[in-house]
Amino acid sequence: MSTPLAQIKPLSQPVTMPAEVATFSPEVEAEMDRHIAKYPVKRSAILPLMFIVQRERGYLDPPAVAYLAERLDLRTTDIWEVATFYSMIYTQPVGKYHIQICKTLSCKLLGSEKITKHCSEKLGIKVGETTPDGRFSLSEVECLGSCGTAPMFQINFDYHENLTPEKVDQIIDALP
Ligand code: FES
Repeated sequence: MSTPLAQIKPLSQPVTMPAEVATFSPEVEAEMDRHIAKYPVKRSAILPLMFIVQRERGYLDPPAVAYLAERLDLRTTDIWEVATFYSMIYTQPVGKYHIQICKTLSCKLLGSEKITKHCSEKLGIKVGETTPDGRFSLSEVECLGSCGTAPMFQINFDYHENLTPEKVDQIIDALP
């Protein structure tokens, strides 16, 4: 017989919490409360809360991870394992524009390596790096679910599809 969702408890493995724990304004705390109230168990609000924390702090630094663990009654490892699984959750600072190039099968077959090379040369950074002015970060990620319009990349929350080097230039040059 399956266990009802509300009875599933996080594992009780002890962890060492960092000394510093992030703090947020009452308005942001209230926003988090509204998300937590939507779910039968607190941990289900982990992704909405991560996006709020990321919006407020730019990325999930250790104090932010400690905060989320406390807020959701989880271990810090529970937070890290989710944060490091999703490419839209950052565990280190990223530039104003985060270019995430899909490197999975359809995109690879249709030229994602050429797109990555072009971006890298245009921006003067390798995959995993950020430009010195903090404007662009470049990453390669797994399938973004837009295989029919490969090759493609995502800049922050926007998809750009059927890419060519010329189209990449237009997109990047048009960014404010
Ligand atoms: S393979 Fe690139 S979006 Fe799916």
